[in-house]
Amino acid sequence: KFKPRIFSGIQPSGNLTLGNYLGALKRFAQKQDEGIETIYCLVDLHAITVWQDPEDLKRQTREAAAAFIASGVDPTRSVLFNQSQVSAHAEMGWLLNCVARMGWMNRMTQWKDKAGKSAEKQSLGLFAYPALMAADILTYHATMVPVGEDQKQHVELTRDIAAKFNHDYKTDFFPSPEPLIEGVATRVMSLRDGSKKMSKSDPSDASRINLTDDADTIAKKFRKAVTDPAELPFEMEGLEARPEARNLVNIYAALADMSPEAVLGEFGGKGFGTFKPALADLAVAKLEPISREMGRLMADPAEIDRTLSEGAARARAIAQPILEETLDIMGM
Ligand code: ADP
Ligand code: NA
Repeated sequence: KFKPRIFSGIQPSGNLTLGNYLGALKRFAQKQDEGIETIYCLVDLHAITVWQDPEDLKRQTREAAAAFIASGVDPTRSVLFNQSQVSAHAEMGWLLNCVARMGWMNRMTQWKDKAGKSAEKQSLGLFAYPALMAADILTYHATMVPVGEDQKQHVELTRDIAAKFNHDYKTDFFPSPEPLIEGVATRVMSLRDGSKKMSKSDPSDASRINLTDDADTIAKKFRKAVTDPAELPFEMEGLEARPEARNLVNIYAALADMSPEAVLGEFGGKGFGTFKPALADLAVAKLEPISREMGRLMADPAEIDRTLSEGAARARAIAQPILEETLDIMGM
């Protein structure tokens, strides 16, 4: 009943990281090149669930659009837009707020992590965020959602919300979208703490590689990355109790389009004094063209805005009829 369609998004809430690139952007471009219909969204309505300075948000939204394009997402072949320009997201979000249950939201690990002990002080939007994410996906009848590990639970919640809607309204209107969590870089970890994911919202800049970092900064961050003193093993089993080493091997593998086994084939028996500079060189070789292209695109913000407006018009053409049919099913 549903044709294959991919939807995914990234928050324009700060510097995009190597984790966002390997876990999301690079794969978004690959999916587009596989000939599947692809819809990609800068989810600014999600970003404002925590405080965003208005000027920063504006700039970061354009910068995130530039990062998509520089990473190979072609705005003529994919639909690329920002969420706030397509009102169906907010409207569908409200409808699904009335389908989702408080108990489901309370179980979301990202909410628990972000709210911590200060849930009372968080915005209502941060709590409802996963229902808006369900709306983002379902208002396109998307069937596949490429994401990193950290978003798996939210896609599963989307399936629960779709199932409850279909059950309550005795319909098969919404598909049950599949999370696509593929490759070795589904959870790139912090360079300072092997138990935390690399994130643009981490207060420590040394914990992450930003897409816009220059070659010296990238080399320095990898050099200072926390590791153990042992040499790299020859087999994957040797990485099991070494999360920091495994993270760097996985990053190398993802950047080089190699398997982690092949990386150990090359670097097994060598120390980090050899491996880290090789990793830094590889990262610079892959990221430099992207940051150069981002710089070129950012020099013409009006052109980025035009691209996003065109993307929004194409997104609206898909989302609006699905929103209207949803309202009709619900009796409105
Ligand atoms: P962040 O967590 O950096 O604020 P977002 O929540 O905007 O980023 O996530 C955008 C996409 O990037 C999602 O698909 C998310 O799963 C992916 N992603 C974020 N951080 C990582 C990471 N460290 N490793 C792999 N994928 C990641
Ligand atoms: Na995230």
